[in-house]
Amino acid sequence: MAIQQLSLTHFRNIKAADIRPAGGLNLIHGANGSGKTSVLEAIWFLSLGRSFRSHQSQRVIQYEQEAFTLFARMGDEERLGFRRNRQGEVEARINGERPEKLAQLAKLLPLQLITPESFALLLDGPKARREYIDWGAFHSDPQFHLIWARCRRLLKQRNQLLRSQADDRQIAIWDKQLAHYSNELTLRRRAWVDSLNGVLKGIIGTFLPNVPVRVSFSQGWDSKTPIEQILESQLHRDKQLGYTVSGPHKADLRLRVNNIPVQDVLSRGQLKLLVCALKIAQGVLLSEQHQKQCIYLVDDLASELDSEKRTQLLSQLEQTGSQVFVTAIDPEQLAMMSWQRVFHVEHGQVTTKDS
Ligand SMILES: Nc1ncnc2c1ncn2[C@@H]1O[C@H](COP(=O)(O)OP(=O)(O)O)[C@@H](O)[C@H]1O
Ligand SMILES: [Mg+2]
Repeated sequence: MAIQQLSLTHFRNIKAADIRPAGGLNLIHGANGSGKTSVLEAIWFLSLGRSFRSHQSQRVIQYEQEAFTLFARMGDEERLGFRRNRQGEVEARINGERPEKLAQLAKLLPLQLITPESFALLLDGPKARREYIDWGAFHSDPQFHLIWARCRRLLKQRNQLLRSQADDRQIAIWDKQLAHYSNELTLRRRAWVDSLNGVLKGIIGTFLPNVPVRVSFSQGWDSKTPIEQILESQLHRDKQLGYTVSGPHKADLRLRVNNIPVQDVLSRGQLKLLVCALKIAQGVLLSEQHQKQCIYLVDDLASELDSEKRTQLLSQLEQTGSQVFVTAIDPEQLAMMSWQRVFHVEHGQVTTKDS
C-alpha cells in the first residue's frame, strides 16, 4: 500500500507540510540542511515510533514547540496518526482509534530504509543483521512477534537470575521455557532466511554479477547441540559472567564471498549495492508471500554510487512496483529516471514540482 497523503507539523525544520506522493518513484531534492532527510524520518516515525538517526526522540520536535504531529493516508481507507510531545507522551491512531500496540503501525506501513549509514548492516556487529532477519520474519509470520517478545523477556529474567546467583534448579525451570521459545524463534528465522535466499540470488546477480555472495543463517549456538543442553552445560560460565552467552539473541546472517566475509573483499560501492540488494529482496519477498508492498526510503541516493549503479538501483526499485522516496541534493544527477512526482525542499518548505 502506498502513502497518498502525508502531513508533518513541527517536525525538525518543517513547520508544516502536506504532500501527495505518487504511488511509484518520488524524488525529494533540495540543498544541504533543507529538510529532505526529515521527510523520510517522519515516515519512519509514523511506522516505528522512533527516529533512524537519533536515539532521543524529542530531538525531532521543532525547536520551541511542544510536540510534533504526523499523519498519513494510505490507499483509500487507512489513516495513520502519530504525535509525541516533549514529555515523551505518545499518541498513535489507526483510523481514529488508539492501537493496542505500536507494532500495528509497523504492520500497516512496512518500510525499507537505505541511507549512507546502511553499510552498518554489513560492517557492524550482528545486531543489525538480526534485526534484518526479524523484520522479515515479523512481517511474514503472525506468531513471530509474540514468540520474539517472550524469548526476550525470558532471557532478561534468566540474566537477572544469573546475576543474583539464584539456585540452579530455579534457573532450570526458566530454561525449559526459554529453550522452547528459542527453538520456535529459530525455526521461523531459518524458514525466512531460506525463502530470502530464493529471491536474493537473482537480485545480487543483477547488482553484482560475478560476485558469488553466499548468505547463511547462524542461529546463535552450535547447531548440532540442542539449546537445552547448551543452557545447562554453560550455566556455570553464564553465572560467572552474569549473562547468557549463547542463544537466539546471538543469531546472525553471514555473508561471504569465497568463504571470506564480504566486508573484507568488497569495495564500498559494492557493499552499498549488496545492502540495497538485501533490502530490495526483503520487500520482494513480502510482496510475493503476502501481497503486501513495502515502501522504500532511499536517503542521499548518490552517495557511493556511480551513475550506472544509480540507474541500476532505481530501475530495480521501480520494478518492485512499490512506492519509493529518494532524496538527492542535485536532481541533475538523477535526471535519467522518469520520476512520477518531484518535491523540492527549501528551509523546511516542501513544494511539489511538475515532473
Ligand atoms: N528539532 C529541530 N527543530 C528545528 N530544526 C531542526 C531540528 N533538528 C534539526 N533541525 C534542522 O533541520 C534541518 C533539516 O535537516 P535534514 O532533514 O537533515 O536536511 P537535509 O537532509 O535536506 O540535508 C537542518 O538544517 C537542521 O539544522
Ligand atoms: Mg539529508
